[in-house]
Amino acid sequence: MNDQPMEQNPLMSGSSQELYPQACTIVIFGGAGDLSRRKLIPALYNLALDGLLPTQFAVVGFAIDALSDEEFRNFARDGIARFSRRALSEEDWTEFEQHLFYQQGDFGEAADYAQLKIRLDDIEPRFGIPGNRVYYLAIPPSFIDTCVYGLREGDLVAPADQEPPFTRLIVEKPIGRDLSSARGVNQSLQACFAEHQLYRIDHYLGKETVQNILAMRFGNSIFEPLWNSKHIDHVQITVAEAEGVGTRGGYYETAGALRDMVQNHILQLLSLVAMEPPWSMRADVIRDRRLDLLQCLRPMHAQDVEHHVVRAQYASGFYQGRDAPGYRREERVAADSTTETYVALRLFIDNWRWAGVPIYLRTGKAMPKRVSEVAVQFKSVPHMLFNSDTDHPLEPNVLALRIQPDEGLALRIGTKLPGPKVRIYPVKMDFRYGSTFGDQSPEAYERLLLDVMAGDATLFMRDDAVEASWRWIQPILDAWAASGQRWLPEYPAGTWGPIEADRLIHADDRAWRQL
Ligand code: BG6
Repeated sequence: MNDQPMEQNPLMSGSSQELYPQACTIVIFGGAGDLSRRKLIPALYNLALDGLLPTQFAVVGFAIDALSDEEFRNFARDGIARFSRRALSEEDWTEFEQHLFYQQGDFGEAADYAQLKIRLDDIEPRFGIPGNRVYYLAIPPSFIDTCVYGLREGDLVAPADQEPPFTRLIVEKPIGRDLSSARGVNQSLQACFAEHQLYRIDHYLGKETVQNILAMRFGNSIFEPLWNSKHIDHVQITVAEAEGVGTRGGYYETAGALRDMVQNHILQLLSLVAMEPPWSMRADVIRDRRLDLLQCLRPMHAQDVEHHVVRAQYASGFYQGRDAPGYRREERVAADSTTETYVALRLFIDNWRWAGVPIYLRTGKAMPKRVSEVAVQFKSVPHMLFNSDTDHPLEPNVLALRIQPDEGLALRIGTKLPGPKVRIYPVKMDFRYGSTFGDQSPEAYERLLLDVMAGDATLFMRDDAVEASWRWIQPILDAWAASGQRWLPEYPAGTWGPIEADRLIHADDRAWRQL
């Protein structure tokens, strides 16, 4: 843990100014839940190991489960032992656990917020925490309203215009399940907090490789001149997951791949890939550019949906060495469910830079492997001097940004195959995080929690961006709802999606990348 005064502990923020994590209490609503155990507590532990947390910090789990501080610490320890990036060390744990506390409470009970306040007022002076608080809502979306009003009425929100001390609220996705409910959530949040106190998490933005998209585009001079419709043929974004829905069938039935992955993670990825250069790395400047991009997405009209969007569901299959059930046979999934577990779509960005360049997105569960990448395919050379033989066509240049798990980037270029004949052969210039930087990259939640403590909102979603992405998604949801379709195209679990997705891209004389 870091004993330096905070001013000497610079956190390299996403911005050009350096921000510092500040002394605070993190209250985890749903502290005894899965997200807390798998992600949040291990993330805080790793930050502590890296010396990135201020010494003045406390973590308070707040949830309905009846746990003592000791039981909560055991729960946290178990989470770290099982899910932490770095192994649990007894010495570090002994220090870390002293900062963990638990307060039982019902999110709907005013009296329990009063108790929470008493508890925080008692804990904070022990660590010299000056009343700065971060509330993390690791709870189902149906509780958001109750909790934010509970906090406000319980006098747990410091006035936004009189900081310090600060109050910040972290909200997990999903923010709504369509445009109108997303607006409703934003209204509730803003009734209780100022926008600058709100941190809507999209954990994809916390991934190192996702942040590297901006670094790669704007930290090098060679890409930007080519980054437009004059040179780029198309872009493909793939987010494939090997797992099916597992135990999350109940939630997934209310979501589906479009809401679960495209509306947030994939559109955020796209906005980084395609946005205009920001004039500064300040949070609002970057967020404005991302918003601009979302606003340029060509609206999808009801009649377009059928031509540009494919949805499908995984059927039973054999993969990862075992028989896997189809989606309709998963736990807590309706036997006649029409929830999509796969989406592929073609979209266009209506601005000067991207005019006419198709962007293909695909995401699905129960696919052959977990792999996410953004691939930018450049146009073919204008005049063929080589490989006129149609058996060995000249392959176009592709820049592949590998988001996970084999993090890195590769540029495919043509080189001369050694020998007397002039034949061009595709080779890869490859950068791998693992071999260059060695250590494992920090988890997205580590970075994001640190940014909230430092007050850097660059990697979080503003209300307008959330609504802009729902606005674009909404006609697809509406068209699907209106179609009354009772069966979706299927793909066997462990395969790359339905034939309809191949047809979508083949219709443009292109093909999905083989990953
Ligand atoms: C979550 C989705 O937001 O992202 C999950 O709800 C999905 O369904 C997960 O599995 C994927 O995240 P990652 O970081 O494992 O790619």
